Amino acid sequence: MTADHTVKNVVVAFGTRPEATKMAPVIEALDRQEGLRVTVLVTGQQREQLDSALAVFGLTPHADLNVMTERQTLSDLTGRIVPQAARKLRELQADMVLVHGDTTTTFCMAYAAFVEGVAVGHVEAGLRSGSMTEPFPEEANRKLTSVLTTLDFAPTSLSRDNLLREGKTPGGIFVTGQTAVDAVRAVAARAELRASWRGKRLVAVTMHRRENLPVMRELALALRDVALNHPERHFVYPVHLNPAVREAVTPVLSGLANFELTEPLAYDEMSALMAASDLLATDSGGLQEEGASLGVPVVVLRNVTERPEGVEAGVLRLAGTERAQVSRVLEALLSNEGELAHMRGRPNPYGDGQASERIARAVAWHFGLGKRPGDWQVASAAVHPS
Ligand code: UD1
Repeated sequence: MTADHTVKNVVVAFGTRPEATKMAPVIEALDRQEGLRVTVLVTGQQREQLDSALAVFGLTPHADLNVMTERQTLSDLTGRIVPQAARKLRELQADMVLVHGDTTTTFCMAYAAFVEGVAVGHVEAGLRSGSMTEPFPEEANRKLTSVLTTLDFAPTSLSRDNLLREGKTPGGIFVTGQTAVDAVRAVAARAELRASWRGKRLVAVTMHRRENLPVMRELALALRDVALNHPERHFVYPVHLNPAVREAVTPVLSGLANFELTEPLAYDEMSALMAASDLLATDSGGLQEEGASLGVPVVVLRNVTERPEGVEAGVLRLAGTERAQVSRVLEALLSNEGELAHMRGRPNPYGDGQASERIARAVAWHFGLGKRPGDWQVASAAVHPS
């Protein structure tokens, strides 16, 4: 193969479902930039869930490290990804690697790129919960990644400020908005709600966080309490494939008439479910942004969030992880239509749907192709899609 050295090879690397959904619009935007060639490299940290997300966006990876094993530990994963990723980046002659967020794949890919002398661009840079134990190990992954990057794509000015506080230089930071906003709006607009959910008063639930595993039964019990109190509501919980999650929640939540446990949903079906729900209850990072972007209130089943913009804007409510407290927060909202409507009307603090375009232009700018894009300002996002 002869390489065209005037074209810059940007490798977009990821391994889990949420990384794929939030990188898909970035790949599309990079494809539209002249002078860049995009190569998609996946680790396969999550096999089924990643493949399902790739299918929704019609993406076929150029290279796949296929690292997942059953009940993998974080150090197993790290030990498999780093050397294979380094070899692959060399083979692909990468000029830049774009990583996303805070997974084990993110950090390992950034480290492999760093030791190979390849510039790293970090999408969703600068989120901080302030606690190394919540989310674990994501807070460490995102901080470790930040010290290895050349370009940082901070979704909001708050995340930019976090990076500046840690000594990153302003010239490499771009405030872009969240690419989750770009993805969820595009997909929800074309996705269809499952027929059996139409006309129901839906509450969508997800829980999978590692640090929540010890309290996941408690959280499930809280959801059970609330579901029993609200037979008029239909709860839908697509359960993560992690067997540890399944073992914790299934015995508590199966068998309730208005609580449906499903297999993981494809991203289009999930987007339609979220858009049609009155409330989301979740410990996921991404759902906080997706709820805010669709104008759906979110109860966050965690003690801290790295996405405080939504709490401040009034569309997110932090419920903690203790059974009685979680029940109280959910109960207060599900019995108060006025409060739910108020939360629904809050501005979206996470983006305007143009984050991917800004990222692609910033990458092009880095290679001397085009102008530096301006930063996104929250005021321009104060309207929900109709
Ligand atoms: C990972 C990410 C987390 C992200 C989440 C999204 C890290 C440290 N954590 O956590 O940030 O929010 O993915 O899902 O990188 N499994 C399957 N098939 C799949 C996916 C998972 O069987 O498609 C099983 C495997 O047995 C695996 C286990 O689930 O061992 C856990 O998956 P893993 O990707 O290691 O970690 P998560 O806890 O999902």
